[in-house]
Amino acid sequence: MNVDKGYVEAPIDKSLDLKEEILRLKKEKNAVILAHYYTVGEIQDIADFIGDSLALAQIAERLDNDIIVMCGVHFMGETVKILCPDKKVLVPDLNAGCSLADSCPAPELEKFIAAHPDHTVISYVNTSAAVKALTDIVVTSGNAMKIINSLPADEKIIFGPDRNLGNYINSETGREMLLWDGACHVHEQFSLEKILELKKQHPEAKVLVHPECPKPIRLVADKVGSTAVLLKWATESPFDEFIVATESGILHEMRKKCPGKSFIPAPPNDSTCACNDCAFMKLNTLGKLYNTLRYELPEVNVDESIIDRARQPITRMLELSK
Ligand code: 13P
Ligand code: SF4
Repeated sequence: MNVDKGYVEAPIDKSLDLKEEILRLKKEKNAVILAHYYTVGEIQDIADFIGDSLALAQIAERLDNDIIVMCGVHFMGETVKILCPDKKVLVPDLNAGCSLADSCPAPELEKFIAAHPDHTVISYVNTSAAVKALTDIVVTSGNAMKIINSLPADEKIIFGPDRNLGNYINSETGREMLLWDGACHVHEQFSLEKILELKKQHPEAKVLVHPECPKPIRLVADKVGSTAVLLKWATESPFDEFIVATESGILHEMRKKCPGKSFIPAPPNDSTCACNDCAFMKLNTLGKLYNTLRYELPEVNVDESIIDRARQPITRMLELSK
């Protein structure tokens, strides 16, 4: 089977009900589908579990299926493989990368660590397996604050790769972590001016902001948090209207969970682009998911030596976030 392009290239019979076929194959092969909140609605709807990066890692750890299909981006597939090395881990499209993970190549981080000895290395989960192998503790946006607060106040820390999340933690905790200069191209695109304009039109709306956004956007937030935290806050708070400054995929679950509430995507700087869509996440389509289950390809593989070193900082994260 040809996966030269990073996904299975095989014709799909147009008369098939793809959702039914996916469910059939899943059962037949004892497979499970995980999906991140940023994937398209139809992928979220067919998944066995949806969640943020933290929840998906926690779920993966306790699964006993033979095949795990990770609908998200490549580093999420790697995280699952590191936690479940004996399972077959599949992704619908290997091209689903991450601009944030790409902003921190392992050889450069290695030099940075060597230049700053005696520092604990904390890496955001949005990193390659090779970067995780250089890390002491992995964190996600859902547990970063809690984990960093659990360390002694004078502990020297290197935090990477997201400078915005790092800045946020520094300002909330008073720490002076050394920050890697990376960022997510989606979360850096939101326009403060347009959010303020929207606030004028919807004065009652609360602003939900992911900590990967830059400081000026965080400063107008009513709630800063991971996708799961923002979803929970929107669901449980008494407010009815929200401006959402994170990737647009989360709106699907927000609208499903809160049918009576209104969610407005925060506009990006360039209104001619769909910049609040992560193009990598949107590479997960029903057709590719179907072919992935059908041919059990493409598989995510991580070098055994890297798995051994990368598992420890992830396991440490899972223990510290209990
Ligand atoms: P969370 O899932 O931790 O909210 O992270 C968002 C993200 O950018 C995932 O790629
Ligand atoms: Fe990476 Fe940003 Fe896409 Fe998340 S939204 S996967 S951080 S590029």
